[in-house]
Amino acid sequence: MAKTLQNLSSTYTILITISFFFFSTLVTSETHHFSRPLSPSKHGLKREKLSHLHFYFHDIVGGRTPTAIKVAEALTTNTSMTGFGTVVMIDDPLTISPESSSKLVGKAQGIYASASQSEVGFLMALNFVFVEGKFNGSTLSVLGRNAVFSAVREMPIVGGSGLFRFARGYVLASTHQFDIKSGDAVVEYNVYVFHH
Ligand SMILES: *[C@@H]1O[C@H](CO)[C@@H](O)[C@H](O)[C@H]1NC(C)=O
Ligand SMILES: *[C@@H]1O[C@H](CO)[C@@H](O)[C@H](O)[C@H]1NC(C)=O
Repeated sequence: MAKTLQNLSSTYTILITISFFFFSTLVTSETHHFSRPLSPSKHGLKREKLSHLHFYFHDIVGGRTPTAIKVAEALTTNTSMTGFGTVVMIDDPLTISPESSSKLVGKAQGIYASASQSEVGFLMALNFVFVEGKFNGSTLSVLGRNAVFSAVREMPIVGGSGLFRFARGYVLASTHQFDIKSGDAVVEYNVYVFHH
């Protein structure tokens, strides 16, 4: 009887020990792999700086080589004064001066969509993809509202990649030239961005 009790209690102890190791390993390994604090300098992050970028955005909707193409609209879009429901995909050149033949510094790739029924106001969701200088290969992501007939439109920079990791800031867009016949536009962009 005493022997059986002793056997039982040692089996019990072993079980407890096993489950203790099992659960404690599970808990510590989960905590370890899911998240951990990181030192910004050890992660290679330099001091945050502010940069100003200036370029011209060419939205070419007409001609033989458009860079902005309507990809969708609603059944009611053609009866809307603001083109409400139009969705346009763009791969617009960004150049250093207003002439389209001037040096290419990047592309604006993404979507704009008519999102207002009371004025022409676009939802902009696009990436600036730079191809020139130290920002070659880096990108900035813009998500904002663009009331195109306002003199200056402000849109937030919500992030970036490459040299623009951790980017935040804003852009100011103002129409430099608008061809009412073709619909082509040249828009001046001033970009103010914090990055590391
Ligand atoms: C709008 O487009 C639809 C087809 O998508 C057509 O049936 C309708 O007549 C158009 N309305 C106007 C006012 O152009
Ligand atoms: C930008 O980077 C690409 C890919 O690394 C390279 O092919 C190209 O020559 C670079 N352009 C400039 C202007 O440095």
